[in-house]
Amino acid sequence: MTPDPAFRDDVLRGLRQQPPAVPARWLYDSQGSELFDEITRLPSYYPTRTETALLQEIMPEVAERVGQGRAVVEFGAGSLTKTPLLLEAIRPALYVPVDISGDYLRASAAELAAKLPGLPIHTVVANFSDAIALPPEASVLPKLGFFPGSTIGNFVPASATDLLRHFRAVLGTGALLLIGMDRVKPVERLIAAYDDPQGVTAAFNLNLLHRINRELGGTVPVDAFRHEARWNDVLSRVEMHLVATGDVAFDIAGEPFRLAAGSSIHTENSHKYGPRGGRMLLLAGGWTPLAEWTDPARDFAVVLAEAERERFAP
Ligand code: AVJ
Repeated sequence: MTPDPAFRDDVLRGLRQQPPAVPARWLYDSQGSELFDEITRLPSYYPTRTETALLQEIMPEVAERVGQGRAVVEFGAGSLTKTPLLLEAIRPALYVPVDISGDYLRASAAELAAKLPGLPIHTVVANFSDAIALPPEASVLPKLGFFPGSTIGNFVPASATDLLRHFRAVLGTGALLLIGMDRVKPVERLIAAYDDPQGVTAAFNLNLLHRINRELGGTVPVDAFRHEARWNDVLSRVEMHLVATGDVAFDIAGEPFRLAAGSSIHTENSHKYGPRGGRMLLLAGGWTPLAEWTDPARDFAVVLAEAERERFAP
């Protein structure tokens, strides 16, 4: 397998810096994606099932506000459980899933097409943070962006704001955005969600080191690392780390690295927002919240927002 130069560059650059860190998107190779799928079914990982039940519950109201005939642009390939809830409720004129993995995107689009016959689907292979060329059929249609899963939480607020502004630019004037955001809650529950007793999240995190060894010819001693989930209260996020249990030395792509016992590689952030913080993030990203829904325990929120109109007044 020829190594992905972007993966190689991110890993080398990330491990040269102090403290060492690797962007979270590299957790999702095919093995990582399968492990994440397993995570979503864990009893302690509440976000997926909470958001799915919430979407089911609120869809009549969402449909009323969104109306029919929009082009739905989903940032990330559609989930076979969440996406049909939206598409069945609002009957869009076009569905445009955007995902970096062409194979995964085509497989997921084919399954959605089978589930929803008659729905025009146009896939776009792209990283949703980069330039996105929407299909020409979409140009005349009003847009609805769909960004579920609290994926926004993976981005530090400055990058999350950039991403939201990018979505705003891609979707254009008059667009709406339906976005899922995980809420702040007691630390014990947050940590349990990211450090399950079954060890699936640990395997998901440690898979990054296996991937480095597989794809970049690394010599990382994976057994010398353990998974850790930490709550960072100041930055309001769960962090995943790979902690070195002893002094370790290894090579990646011929370059030597060392980590002292107890130091870590930071692999993921999952930001949690309170109601006001979540709305402020959207506003900073050019989106005005119109409606907001949560489950009864207030564990997870889905927000419908409108592209901020360009205007002079305050
Ligand atoms: C896919 C980014 C929403 O942050 O909850 C789950 C990823 N990492 N367990 C999250 C994840 C560890 C997940 N997101």
